[in-house]
Amino acid sequence: MKDHSAKLSILKTLSQGGFHSGEELGDQLGVSRAAVSKHIKGIQEWGVDIFRVQGKGYQLAKPMQLLDQEVLNQALTTPVELIPIIDSTNQYLLERTDSLESGSVCLAEYQAKGRGRRGREWVSPFGSNLYLSMFWRLDAGMAAAMGLSLVVGVAIVEALEEIGLEGVKLKWPNDLYYQDKKLAGILVEMSGQAGAAANLVIGMGMNLMMSDKTEGITQPWSSLSEVAESQNIDRNQLAITMIKTLNKSLADYELQGMSGFVERWNRLDNFLGRPIKLIMGPREISGISKGINEQGAVLLETEQGIESYIGGEISLRPSSSES
Ligand code: ATP
Ligand code: BTN
Repeated sequence: MKDHSAKLSILKTLSQGGFHSGEELGDQLGVSRAAVSKHIKGIQEWGVDIFRVQGKGYQLAKPMQLLDQEVLNQALTTPVELIPIIDSTNQYLLERTDSLESGSVCLAEYQAKGRGRRGREWVSPFGSNLYLSMFWRLDAGMAAAMGLSLVVGVAIVEALEEIGLEGVKLKWPNDLYYQDKKLAGILVEMSGQAGAAANLVIGMGMNLMMSDKTEGITQPWSSLSEVAESQNIDRNQLAITMIKTLNKSLADYELQGMSGFVERWNRLDNFLGRPIKLIMGPREISGISKGINEQGAVLLETEQGIESYIGGEISLRPSSSES
């Protein structure tokens, strides 16, 4: 694995705020100012906005609170590993399912190969969002995994409401939306055989204070800072809340499955009663969204009545005719 310690050390200093000269940063690391300048370029490539003022040095364009392994350890009883620079937190856990305890977590500050559904990219700039994955061994096996990903989404939105962050909604099957823009995505991946216990990795990427300059996202997106307005978001506390929420919702799901769940989902469904289309490969069906059923299938009302659709290959989109 590449050594990122010099860049991380510079970021730690810059995250304290104010200007820091190339000389000061170089002295801390025992390297030249030219080497510092090279590291700064590398940090900017991770999506961090840093500017330099002649005679003063470097400063972060926006304040940044780093995740802290000790703060996480103190608040959590389950194993949590903070790996600041990683390819993908989901991939990291998937490669280690044989040796992991159920409930183990991996968190990162930056993902070089963050991924969404069907191999799409999850844009993961450094230090401004949450990238979190949890390993879970599900005795009920793979067939139960679809319901589980819906349950997790609802639990996360309810947890945000509990800390006063209102107005976040869900898009079937596992996106969080705020004001019709994507705020977070959940990706459940698995290894295991049909019939046996499933080794699941549940990954969540949630935008917290992503820069407007962020490139590469192909649809409207939002950040939790918009939801929070002037309320300050503590990244470590939010990560702890999300980890506890995931843990509890997965344990509850093992006991209760989807019972009583449809109402909880429908209250938060961003598209309930709105015209949508379901895209399934080359096929598109338009109708009015009617929420979900007890199996976790999405319900669509068309001239033929209400029909249910389920499966990982379906994409839900607002209908272009919606004003
Ligand atoms: P569906 O899964 O229903 O087909 P989707 O458009 O949400 O719809 P996903 O594969 O779930 O697709 O998510 C990946 C998409 O999310 C990418 O196409 C990209 O446009 C977008 N995306 C990538 N990174 C981010 C991010 N940090 N915040 C918001 N959206 C992002
Ligand atoms: C989606 O909407 O397509 C799901 C996005 C999931 C992104 C998270 S970030 C943490 C975890 N690691 C990944 O590579 N992906 C998930």
